[in-house]
Amino acid sequence: MITEQGSIRVNGRDVDLPTDSRVSLLDLLRETLHLYGTKKGCNQGACGACTVLVNGTRVLSCLALAVQQQGREVTTIEGLCEGGGLHPLQSAFIEHDGFQCGYCTPGQICSAVGMVAELKRGLPSHVTADLLQEAITPSRDEICERMSGNLCRCGAHNGIIQAITETYQLGAGN
Ligand code: FES
Ligand code: FES
Repeated sequence: MITEQGSIRVNGRDVDLPTDSRVSLLDLLRETLHLYGTKKGCNQGACGACTVLVNGTRVLSCLALAVQQQGREVTTIEGLCEGGGLHPLQSAFIEHDGFQCGYCTPGQICSAVGMVAELKRGLPSHVTADLLQEAITPSRDEICERMSGNLCRCGAHNGIIQAITETYQLGAGN
C-alpha cells in the first residue's frame, strides 16, 4: 500500500519514511539507511537482535512498521556512541566478555538502555513481587527477566548481565 511520505529522526537526523507502508522499521534502517548495526535475526519478534529505541522505549524493529514511527525519534546502536567514543555499556561488554560473535550485541545494548529507563519509571515485570512499590529493586532476577527477550546463542548471558549490572550499578545479588 502506498501512503503519503512522512519523516522520522534517526540518530538525530531527519529521514524520509518509505511510501510503501509494508516496510518494517528494521528494513528501513538496514536496507535504506545502511545502518547495519541493527541486526536481523529471526525477523519475527523472537530473538531481540533488532531492538532499537523509539522515543527512549525499546522496540523490536522487525515487528514495527516504519510508517508507524512518523515524527518519532529512533536511536540505533550507532546513535548511542558518546562524543565519538563508546557508550559506557559498550565498554562494559568488552570488559566482561559480554559477546562472542557479536550478532546479538547491538540489540542487547539498546534493550538494556531501554530497560534501565523502565526501572526508573517504576514499570513492574513478571517477577516484581510488590506491584505497588514506586522504586523497583533491580535484583538479578529482575534484570534476567527484563532482558529475556534478547537471546544470545553464544551463551554470553553471564557477561551481559555483569556488564549491565556494573554500568548502571544495579544490585544483582538477590
Ligand atoms: Fe526482530 Fe528477531 S529480528 S526479534
Ligand atoms: Fe553471539 Fe550473542 S554473542 S549471539
